Amino acid sequence: MGDNIKRIGVLTSGGDAPGMNAAVRAVVRTAVGQGIECVGIRRGWNGLINSDFVPLTGSSVSHIINKGGTLLYTARSEEFMEEAGRDKALNTCRLLGLDGIVAIGGDGTFRGALALSRQAAQRGMSLQVVGIPATIDNDIGCSYYTIGFDTACNTAIECIDKLRDTMQSHERCSVVEVMGRHAGYLALAVGIAVGATAVLIPERELDFERDIVDKIRRARLAGTTHYMVVVAEGCGSAVEIGDRIHQELGIDPRVTVLGHIQRGGSPSVQDRETASRMGYEAVMSLVEGDENCVISVQSGCTMRIEMEEALQMTKEFHMDRYRLLEALTNGGSKLK
Ligand code: F6P
Repeated sequence: MGDNIKRIGVLTSGGDAPGMNAAVRAVVRTAVGQGIECVGIRRGWNGLINSDFVPLTGSSVSHIINKGGTLLYTARSEEFMEEAGRDKALNTCRLLGLDGIVAIGGDGTFRGALALSRQAAQRGMSLQVVGIPATIDNDIGCSYYTIGFDTACNTAIECIDKLRDTMQSHERCSVVEVMGRHAGYLALAVGIAVGATAVLIPERELDFERDIVDKIRRARLAGTTHYMVVVAEGCGSAVEIGDRIHQELGIDPRVTVLGHIQRGGSPSVQDRETASRMGYEAVMSLVEGDENCVISVQSGCTMRIEMEEALQMTKEFHMDRYRLLEALTNGGSKLK
């Protein structure tokens, strides 16, 4: 039960996301308030394998809520994927007397956490784990929202709004590649927010004539003389899309790949508040004995979902938002 929780570790893993520091802060401050000691594990799961840690107090996490990145560093760990690697991690947990781990990251982070907890039980240890969804991709099936998404969207639209100024002056076509790994949440949200002429997302099979050529033609016929095409990286290369636009329409696009700029920056109020709520809920789930869960946002509420169930959940991609984009584009047309 939760009253056996005396000391916990907290780590960040996978691609970093603005708001991770706010989540670490909330974990530490809530733990301290519950009389629980907190140890920062550095460099993701590698930190457990290599005993790379730093004790964290309430003061350790002062003035970080507004900072992007992660003070605990992050890394992806191949060694941790192996049982022997996890045994090394368990040795660190045993040495430090860790009763629980808060893992801040994506699906892969949670799968690792669950494997560690199960392996601990096989070794006669009790190690409770709890996951906090943090990735700018917003592609974690069990949660409507993941920490970092809002900030990354705002970073992208600031960049694209600047691009629009010069594209408008030169009456050009801009093709912008955004992150999102294999998902189109970031691209679609950004596309709607910048009033893109066209948005390409992995969730919709590309029909170049329908999705690009027809949209640019309709915009031109409606009087527009500059065009903004947002491409999710999961759809392929924005450079190749630009080349095809040149071939098919005879216009000469300018291509911008926003890349890792979307991963930085001071977290937005949504990410700071969501991270704070999730960090608090994560520690309280350990205190209250909710074994191995993921903290998720559903219908605006923060919930605890059993980790194995959470890892099997999928998130429906809402094509109605794609229809909204189409309806509001100058010269737009009904989704075919
Ligand atoms: O998962 C977050 C993310 O930024 C993806 O959108 C992107 O494809 C990937 O990480 C990039 O990974 P890395 O930082 O290892 O290049």
